[in-house]
Amino acid sequence: ASTLGAAAAQSGRYFGTAIAASRLNDSTYSTIAAREFNMITAENEMKPDATQPNQGQFNFSAGDQIYNWATQRGLKVRGHTLAWHAQQPGWMQNMQGSTLRNAMINHINGVMAHYKGKLAAWDVVNEAFNEDGSRRNSNLQGTGNDWIEVAFRTARAADPSAKLCYNDYNIENWSYGKTQGVYRMVQDFKSRGVPIDCVGLQTHFTGGSSLPGNFQTTLSSFAALGVDVALTEVDVTNASTSQYAGLTQACLNVPRCIGITVWGVRDSDSWRSNENPLLFDGGGNKKAAYTSVLNALNAA
Ligand code: G3I
Repeated sequence: ASTLGAAAAQSGRYFGTAIAASRLNDSTYSTIAAREFNMITAENEMKPDATQPNQGQFNFSAGDQIYNWATQRGLKVRGHTLAWHAQQPGWMQNMQGSTLRNAMINHINGVMAHYKGKLAAWDVVNEAFNEDGSRRNSNLQGTGNDWIEVAFRTARAADPSAKLCYNDYNIENWSYGKTQGVYRMVQDFKSRGVPIDCVGLQTHFTGGSSLPGNFQTTLSSFAALGVDVALTEVDVTNASTSQYAGLTQACLNVPRCIGITVWGVRDSDSWRSNENPLLFDGGGNKKAAYTSVLNALNAA
């Protein structure tokens, strides 16, 4: 196949990108995005500060712009994200206790009702762990250690059709404390029947040419708990071809690795634009890393 999405589809997977609503009228950007990818994540537009800027007043204009652009082109959409310590609207940032807990539940219900039946998956909770595997200190964590499972139970009831994911960065190396902390949480959720369907490994890679230790073992270990895994925000320092090929191959080697999403289209669109970490250069040309990924997908 000659595009990333079609090549990934040969093994039943998707290949996605993050999209910024503000760039959709850039025809180079939107042409590449619609041609190459078949899964779309809103880079910022479905986050809490965007979707509930004032308490009780939901705003889906930018999120819907991306949703409509994608679905009109036959592309699927992942939701990102419902409960996170960052990008909370101002009114939520200083809340605590049961007030915040109720606001979190109301937020999940409000956003998921709007997109009910429409999204492939939701990143229900994002980045809730410290590097050592303990829980990150945040206003949400301050509401009680059960805030994550409450978020997932609320999400399941709000839209039973959406796959519910936990999403984080630095959980790619199997030996790393944070990976183990998230693994134990998923294991615990599965053993107690807390609804969780998937783990998103953000896969923001920095430096070097080899993958974080035992990356494929991490994917297969999560999968063995009975969840899907996905690489949800891939970017790689200087777009190392070996790292891009390797992360693609690791996903292909794990049956429950259902897809790969890169965190932007061109290097100039990236939050790490000075590191040139994506598959297209600023002019929209395919980079060597693009070819390494496409070849790996086509060889599967
Ligand atoms: O839209 C405003 C604009 O009106 C304003 O003038 C400008 C001035 O600061 O800010 C613009 O908002 C920025 C927004 O991106 C859109 O460009 C925010 O400041 C900026 O903080 C925001 O950064 C985003 C970041 O999340 C915030 O946490 C990045 O685009 C986005 O790529 C990044 O994505 C995260 C994932 O959600 C979670 N994992 C890590 C990943 C990278 O940080």
